[in-house]
Amino acid sequence: MTSDYLPKRPAAERNSGVILNLLKDILPPTGTVLEISSGTGQHAAYFSSALAPRFWQPSEFDPALINTIDMWRNHSNSDFFLSPIILDVCRKVWPIEKIKPNAPITSIVNINMIHIAPWEACLGLLAGAGRVLKKDGILYIYGPFKRGHKHNSLGNKKFDLSLKEKNPSWGIRNIEDIEKAAMNNNLLLEKIEEMPVNNKSLVFRKLR
Ligand SMILES: C[S@@+](CC[C@H](N)C(=O)[O-])C[C@H]1O[C@@H](n2cnc3c(N)ncnc32)[C@H](O)[C@@H]1O
Repeated sequence: MTSDYLPKRPAAERNSGVILNLLKDILPPTGTVLEISSGTGQHAAYFSSALAPRFWQPSEFDPALINTIDMWRNHSNSDFFLSPIILDVCRKVWPIEKIKPNAPITSIVNINMIHIAPWEACLGLLAGAGRVLKKDGILYIYGPFKRGHKHNSLGNKKFDLSLKEKNPSWGIRNIEDIEKAAMNNNLLLEKIEEMPVNNKSLVFRKLR
């Protein structure tokens, strides 16, 4: 059935295939994948069908998007695409910590959020991943990043400036700062993968 009528983001349309290829390699083979900031839900639909038997738990900060994610869920009609929940990474306790999922959360996926939110959201993501994941659980973060406080392209430098104009607390994050904050939550940065259009994938493993 056509998905033409469903809300889509162009960036999510473009990056789904390359991200899926990497997720197939790095995600634990079973359990639940908790997606943070699912946006429209189009990633959830695409990834949940391709990554079964893992369950896909979408979540969103913006309550208005829950309905949209549900539209994608109905369209996909998959038992592995779970009902979306509201989740703000900055909360000291995430709602998922209070409910027992059918299958344990073995990984967390977050795409294109930490530069379009205050630094506290990145810290909240890492703290929450530290609480929710068990030993060897995987945290995957995708987006544009700086390394050694330097941009990897003129395009990302301009993008960073445009983000800060919209909101001074937003901006492209520095990998070393994320790595340090992750270690405070027992998350080891295990892999940095170059992705198209000057993006990167960061893969963290929970140490204990
Ligand atoms: C650019 S969108 C990316 C959405 C989706 N991951 C994608 O790739 O299409 C950024 C998302 O971050 C979410 N977000 C912002 N602040 C957040 C927070 N504190 N906790 C969880 N999500 C947040 C927004 O609601 C928005 O859906």
